[in-house]
Amino acid sequence: MSARKLRVGMIGGGGPANFFGAPHRRGILMDNSAELTAGALRSNPEESKASARELFIPRGYGDWRSMIAGEAALPAGERIDYVTIVTPNDAHFGPAEAAARAGIGVLCEKPLTTTLEEARALRATVIANKTPFVTAYTYTGFPMVMLARELVRGGDIGAIRKVEAWYPQGWLATRLEADNQKQAAWRVDPSRAGGSGCGGDIGTHAYEFVLFVTGLAATKVSARLKTFVSGRALDDDFTVLAELTEGAIATITASQVTIGAQNDNGFRIIGTKGTLEWSITDHQTLKRFTGGQPLMLYRQGAEYGYFPGSIKPYLRLPSGHPEGFHEALGNLHRTLEWTIRARMGETAPAPFEHPGIDAGAAGMAFIEAAVASSAREGAWTAVPAI
Ligand SMILES: NC(=O)c1ccc[n+]([C@@H]2O[C@H](COP(=O)([O-])OP(=O)(O)OC[C@H]3O[C@@H](n4cnc5c(N)ncnc54)[C@H](O)[C@@H]3O)[C@@H](O)[C@H]2O)c1
Repeated sequence: MSARKLRVGMIGGGGPANFFGAPHRRGILMDNSAELTAGALRSNPEESKASARELFIPRGYGDWRSMIAGEAALPAGERIDYVTIVTPNDAHFGPAEAAARAGIGVLCEKPLTTTLEEARALRATVIANKTPFVTAYTYTGFPMVMLARELVRGGDIGAIRKVEAWYPQGWLATRLEADNQKQAAWRVDPSRAGGSGCGGDIGTHAYEFVLFVTGLAATKVSARLKTFVSGRALDDDFTVLAELTEGAIATITASQVTIGAQNDNGFRIIGTKGTLEWSITDHQTLKRFTGGQPLMLYRQGAEYGYFPGSIKPYLRLPSGHPEGFHEALGNLHRTLEWTIRARMGETAPAPFEHPGIDAGAAGMAFIEAAVASSAREGAWTAVPAI
């Protein structure tokens, strides 16, 4: 039984040129169990407040520092329960750490930070403060990706031998940043994006498939980060061969110069008893191959009995009614909400084990190792501990 809607604060995500604030707002509001109460939506204080007014967010602040301080000073029954951080990568660490210190939950965009050092510091703060924390690896919110995890963890395809994970895009195949296109401009700037452009932006999603679905992690990598578009300071193509724990291997590839690709990320998990395959191009289907048997297709639908109890609360519609990207984001918000509600002493469904602070930090360790390997012509490089 829920006593009230959760109150959410948004950091970043304002203004007409912004991309990812709107999908998060839809995700937050999807189940009518949370509301946007506060916002510090842009880097310019006046624009930040104006943006809050335009979006009917009652408490608009000029910047994230005053928002977190202001909210923390409110009585417990009025302040925000969590923040959604949807700023460029260089403005994740500051607000996430401040929110954690103030006792406010955090849903933070990926990549977690711009450096592994920051990620470690944030992780320490989150652990010390027992902060409810989700790292926004959106694709882990797709029910069929969650099902793949449950099948692998249940031993359905045996011991994992190999993972192939991919994420191609084509939007940076030309020098879009030269036209000051907002999303491109900071993504190719090392001071704002971090040590890897393509890897940090989308290679990290592909690596998260390895972590989330199989529970294995890269121990060492051989990486080739390429910059195809001249004048660009960061990679726009990312190819990694990884040794995984328990003797498995992985190929993790991402690209921003694959003309025609439409965010068509996915994975193939190859085990001793079978293979699982998922692609966002057919996101309501999970394929299961077993030697000598016909291909098995799991399809998405709230009425299907083969979804375990851990996933059922995340399905909203009967089969044939597509639930996709926004619902996946909504599912990550749902996990954080249920974690917070349990802390409030309310009865809420058990949250799924969506990526938390460890997954965010592990993503940064992977990126750091890939950058170091590529700088040494693909030499095998150990993935540092988080
Ligand atoms: N999980 C996913 O699937 C996914 C998809 C897209 C983007 N992202 C991530 O979301 C983040 C934002 O990406 P985007 O494409 O929306 O970028 P964007 O450039 O479109 O928007 C960034 C927003 O942050 C605001 N901003 C910048 N600095 C700020 C500050 N200090 N305080 C408050 N607001 C500030 C800007 O005004 C803008 O509204 C990035 O970390 C990106 O990696 C994740």
